[in-house]
Formats: sequence, structure tokens, C-alpha cells
Amino acid sequence: MSLKTVKDIDLKNKKVLIRVDFNVPLKEGVITDDTRIQAALPTIKYILEQEGASLIVMSHCGRPKGEKKPEFSLKPAADRLAELINNKVIMADDVIGDSVEASVKALKAGEVLVLENTRFYKEETKNDMAFAKKIASLGDVFVNDAFGTAHRAHASTEGVSHFLPSAAGFLIEKECIFFDGILENPKKPFVAIIGGAKVSSKIGVLESLLERADTLIIGGGMAYTFLYAQGHTIGKSLFEEDYLDTAKTLLKKAEEKGVEILLPEDHIAAADFSETAEAVKVDGLDIPENLMGMDVGEKTLTKIKERIANAASIVWNGPMGVFEFDAFAKGTLEVAGYVAECKGTTVVGGGDSVAAVNKFGFADKIDHVSTGGGASLEFLEGKVLPGIEALRN
Ligand code: 3PG
Repeated sequence: MSLKTVKDIDLKNKKVLIRVDFNVPLKEGVITDDTRIQAALPTIKYILEQEGASLIVMSHCGRPKGEKKPEFSLKPAADRLAELINNKVIMADDVIGDSVEASVKALKAGEVLVLENTRFYKEETKNDMAFAKKIASLGDVFVNDAFGTAHRAHASTEGVSHFLPSAAGFLIEKECIFFDGILENPKKPFVAIIGGAKVSSKIGVLESLLERADTLIIGGGMAYTFLYAQGHTIGKSLFEEDYLDTAKTLLKKAEEKGVEILLPEDHIAAADFSETAEAVKVDGLDIPENLMGMDVGEKTLTKIKERIANAASIVWNGPMGVFEFDAFAKGTLEVAGYVAECKGTTVVGGGDSVAAVNKFGFADKIDHVSTGGGASLEFLEGKVLPGIEALRN
């Protein structure tokens, strides 16, 4: 279903209420990564260019659980936004209430007001309709550009859309174009790369991609439960016994469907999980008793490289090894480089793989680096995202 976007609604002389995801990392009140603020700029700038339009910005930050905790204030994000758009940004002292209403009333064309953290109210995460209605009363139209929060049915994401003409911003539009493209009509061969620590957190994604991909590359800690399921020894590697049957079922399903599953065929291992542990090469599939798999080996990387080079579309979610530790980062670094080189459509989603492409400097060479963690995972699982569903025509 197509999306109604910000270009489809009349913004002239309107007070535009926009939901963004300014849930940015903060260290002692200072933003350490403003990617999500930058990602909302095209929509924010577009709205401010419309004749007579003014902007009321809302977002959550962290999980203050319905309490007004100053360390979760949106003030640092509002200050950063002011720098990025080179415009004055007024910071409200609340989300709703008399003072906010007065600030909205005084808002002139071209001006920006940032509301406080929507999660200062417990009604936000409960998608309380009375609260949503109060927020909605601040604006004339609603634009949702908070892709990172699109999997949450909260008052400021889904609730508000019941009370105002609503549309998607350019970020949500872009995320949907890439994820819908990958899920509904991927160019073939379609190679999916799934990594990360646990099978348990990726079952939905693996099942969904098994229906769509030609090759499924499985790396990271989760790969060892699959190797065990195939009868290999995995030493002290990460192992989820409760998900052994799931791994077996997924392997069987792949075989029936003719989907190639590529698991590590050699490893970089260590005696313990530590940054200073010595990296030990394990040439074969089986890992000795005293070692744990920490990264994929050279032979595996050669195969992965070849599959990625021949892919017409790629989706990547989750690192190949413990990339936070330098000695075990090579697999993830190499895969980031192969994806960046790939001539096909490339999409990277999920917190850790996005952190990896940013850390290794490949983000610019990838067609789409998602701003969503949980949201991109649920999108890949084929789930309905409530914040986006409300904007479909
Ligand atoms: C995220 O960082 O993934 C989003 O901002 C959603 O945050 P949440 O998991 O606290 O809902």
C-alpha cells in the first residue's frame, strides 16, 4: 500500500506537528551521535519552506518511564537542531498544558518549537487516546518521520494520527522504499546477511528472509547454535540450547526451499571472551573444547565475498563477530567493505551493523543505512509497523 507523504498534504499557513526520533545517545548531556537528527532534516527543512508554516517538534528520548527526569530532556537535541538548521528553536517546558499552548499560540511562520520528551507522560507508551488528542490539538496537521519508533504504537506516533490529517516524512518514505523493495520484490540473487549474538532475537527475521532470499549468510554468535545443530563441535562458543530445535527446523526449511545457508567454515577463536584474548585460527568447522568462536575465518570470508559480489540485492543485519574487540573485528570489517563494493541494492539495518559501517567508514557507499534498530528488525520480520500503517493510503 502506498504511503501518504508530506508532499500530499497542504501545509500553507499550518502549524505542523512532527514526530521525529531524536532518541540520540547522550554522554553527560552531550550528544555523541546526531545521525537521527540529521536524518530528519530534509522533512524539517521542507516544512519550514512552505508559505506560512511553523513547526512543533516532538520526540521521546530514552526510557524515563512516565517521569519528568531532566537527564532525558530534549533540550540537547533542540540545541543541536538549531545549529543544523541555523534557525532559532524554542524549547517548551512540557509536552502538553497551559504553557505549551501559550508557546504554540505565539509561534509565528517559520518558527520551530520543540516539546519536551513525550515519555515524561506514562500515557505516551500506553497510547492513551485522551493524551494523544491533547497533543494533536497543538497542530493543524501531523507528519510522522520517526522511523526508529515506528514499531511502537504510542500516543505521539500512532495515537495522534486518529485526530489530524497525517502523512509520512521523507525519512519514513525512504526507509519504506528500501525495506518494502527488499521484502516484496528483491532483485535476484538476493543475499541476506544475518549476524549478532543470539538466534532467539533473530528467529522472526530468519524465517521471513528464508521465504525471500537465495542465500542466507549466518555469522556472529548465533552461528554456533546452527553449527552444533549440524553436528559440529563448538567448544565454549555461544550456544542456545533452547533454540537448537529452532535452528534445526530453519536448516531443514532452507533445504526444502533450496535456499543456500552459508555458515562459518573456519573461525577466529579465543580461550576467553576478552578484548586482550589471543586470537587463534581454527581451520576447520569444528572448534576445540577449550576455545570459543569470536569471528569468522579467511575461508568463510572468501565465500561471503563471492556471494556478495554476485548479489543484485543485499540486506545486512548484525555483525559477523565481536567487532568491538579489534582482534575479532576483521570479519565484520571485511563484510562491511564487500557490501559497500556491491553493485546491487544494499540495505543495512539494525543498531550493531549500522554502528559497524559507521565505525569502518563505509556508510556513504551503502544505498540505505537504516535509522531504525528494533523498527528495522520488525520490518524485516514482515511485521506491521503501527506508526507507518496509520500513514498508508
Ligand atoms: C530506538 O532507539 O530503537 C527507538 O528510538 C525506540 O526506542 P525504544 O526501544 O525505547 O522504544
